[in-house]
Amino acid sequence: MKKICLLVSFVAVTFSCTARQPIVGAGKEVDPYHYSITKTALFSKASVVSAHPLASQVGAAVMKRGGNAFDAMIATQLALAVVYPGAGNIGGGGFLIARKANGQLLSIDYREQAPAKAHRDMYLDSAGNALTELSQNGHLSSGVPGTVAGLFAAMPYAKLPFAELIQPAIDLAEFGYVITEEEAANFNADKNDFVKYNTQPLAFVKQVAWKGGDTLVQKDLAETLKRIRDNGAKGFYEGTTADLIVAEMQRGKGCITHEDLKNYRAKEREPLTFTYRGYQVISFPPPSSGGLLLVQMLKMIEPFPVARYGFHSTELVQLMTEAERRAYADRAEYMGDPDFWNVPVKTLTSDAYITARMKDFVPGKAGKSETIKAGIIKESEETTHISIMDAQGNMVAVTTTLNNHYGSKTVVGGAGFLLNDEMDDFSIKPGVPNMYGAVGGEANAIAPGKRMLSSMAPTLLLKNNKPYAVMGTPGGTTIPTSVFQTIVNMVDFNMSAADAVNKPKFHHQWLPDLIYMEKDFPDVTASALEKMGYQLDRRGNIGRTEVIKMNNGKLESAADKRGDDCVAGF
Ligand code: DON
Repeated sequence: MKKICLLVSFVAVTFSCTARQPIVGAGKEVDPYHYSITKTALFSKASVVSAHPLASQVGAAVMKRGGNAFDAMIATQLALAVVYPGAGNIGGGGFLIARKANGQLLSIDYREQAPAKAHRDMYLDSAGNALTELSQNGHLSSGVPGTVAGLFAAMPYAKLPFAELIQPAIDLAEFGYVITEEEAANFNADKNDFVKYNTQPLAFVKQVAWKGGDTLVQKDLAETLKRIRDNGAKGFYEGTTADLIVAEMQRGKGCITHEDLKNYRAKEREPLTFTYRGYQVISFPPPSSGGLLLVQMLKMIEPFPVARYGFHSTELVQLMTEAERRAYADRAEYMGDPDFWNVPVKTLTSDAYITARMKDFVPGKAGKSETIKAGIIKESEETTHISIMDAQGNMVAVTTTLNNHYGSKTVVGGAGFLLNDEMDDFSIKPGVPNMYGAVGGEANAIAPGKRMLSSMAPTLLLKNNKPYAVMGTPGGTTIPTSVFQTIVNMVDFNMSAADAVNKPKFHHQWLPDLIYMEKDFPDVTASALEKMGYQLDRRGNIGRTEVIKMNNGKLESAADKRGDDCVAGF
C-alpha cells in the first residue's frame, strides 16, 4: 500500500516540475522500482554503458528524446550521483574525453584540487610520519569537487536544456529507487565508517541491515540537485550548497572554504593522441597519468609479435608486465599536475625514449623494480566510467571518481552528497604509498590549487579516422593496465567487446614488485611466470570496464561482468 501511494505522488509531482513528460517513474522509460541488468547488446543508433542500469537507461532515454551523446553523458552522470553513491558523484571529480561527429576532439579536466589551505606536509605528524587515516577518510581528505563545473563545461556541446538533463536525477533522489544487492551489501559493510566520519544523519545508514530491493530516498540530495537545476554551477559552488559544505568542513576540521569553491574551474586540456597498429588512440593527458601510461605501454609492446605469442601466453604476459613496470616507474618520478610541474610528455612518449626503456628487457627472465627505475630524461576503489556513442557519431568517455568506495565517507550535512577523499592521490610523503600502493615524489607533492595525479584513462579508438571504440574503467592504478589489456584484446586478438572486457586481467605497477592476477587468470601461465622469477598475488576484481565498439555499423556494447554495470540503447 505504501509503495502505491509513493508512486502516485511521484507521478503527480514530476509532471509539475518539467514541461516534458518525466523520464523516470513507474511505467515510464526508466522505472526505478523494476529494472534488470543487460550485459551486452548490439544497438543500431545509440548506446550508453555505465555502472548502473537506471543511469544507463536515463542516458539512452535522453538520446531517444533528441539529445546527443553529451546530453546523455550529463544526464547519466547526474543519475549515477543518485543511484551509484559509491562512485557516481557531485562531490568528486573526473575527466571527459570526446570526439564530436565533425572530428573535433575535446578533453575536459574537472579533477578535484587541493584547497588553498592545503600544504605539502599536511598529512605528516610532528615526527614526519605519514597520517594516511587523514588523507583517506573524513573531512580533511577531500579536494575541492569538480564534477558540477565539469558538467557545465560540457553543456555547450549538448542540445537539450540542463533542467531536462538533471530532472531524472532529481526524481530518482526525491522519490527513491530500489537498490541492488551489491549496493545493499556495500552500505552494510561501510555502516561503521559512515557513523564514524559523519556529523549529521545520512540516508545510507539505517537501524536494520539493507537488503537488495529496499528503496533509497535521498531528499537532501534532491534539494541540492534542484539548486543546481535552478542556479547552474552557482547552485553548487555558491549560496546554500556552498554554505552547507563549509559548515560541514568546520564541524569536521576540514579545510575547504567558500573561496575554494567559488574559484574552482574546469579546464580544457589537449588530448593525447597516438597510434597503435594503425588505430588512433585518444586518451587523457596530465593531470592524469592514464593516457601517458597507455601510450608508453602500447608503444613498448608494438614492435613485438603480440598476436603470434597468443592471448594470456607466458611470453605475452611477461612482455606486458615489463612494459607496465617501466611505465609505472616513470609515473612515480615524472607525472603530476602540468600547471605546477613540468611533465616531460614529449620525451616520455617519444620513439627514442620508448625504445631505450625496453633495451634491458630480457624475454624469459623476470625484471626487478630494484634495478629498473624511472627512465633518464636529459631535459630540464571508487570510481566509475561511462561510455556513450550516439546516432550522429559523437563519442564520449567519462571517468569520474570519489577515489575509494564512498570517497571520504563524509556526507555534507543537509546537502546529501558524499565528498571525495582525493587528497590521498597526492604523494603525501615521498615514497609513502597511497591507498593503491602508488608512490610518488616532488612532481605530485601537495600544493594549494594543485590537482592530484590520477590514473583515470577515458579512451577513444579510431580506425581509418572513423569511430571504432569508446572505453574506460575504474580501479585506481589498475585503470591504465585494464585499458591497455582491453585495447590489446580487441586490436591484436580481435575479441568481441564482451570478451575484451571480461577475460581475466593482470597488473604490475613497478612497486610493489608483484604481478597481481584475478583469481580466474590461467594457472599454467601463472606458474610459468613464477618459475621465471616473478612474484604473484591473486586478488579480486580488476576494473569494471565499459566498452562500445563498432561492429558492421552497429554499436556492440559490453558492460563489465564484475558489477551491476549495464548497457542501454536503441
Ligand atoms: O584518480 C584516480 O586515479 C583514482 N582516484 C581512481 C580511484 C578508483 O578508480 C577507485 N576505483 N575502484
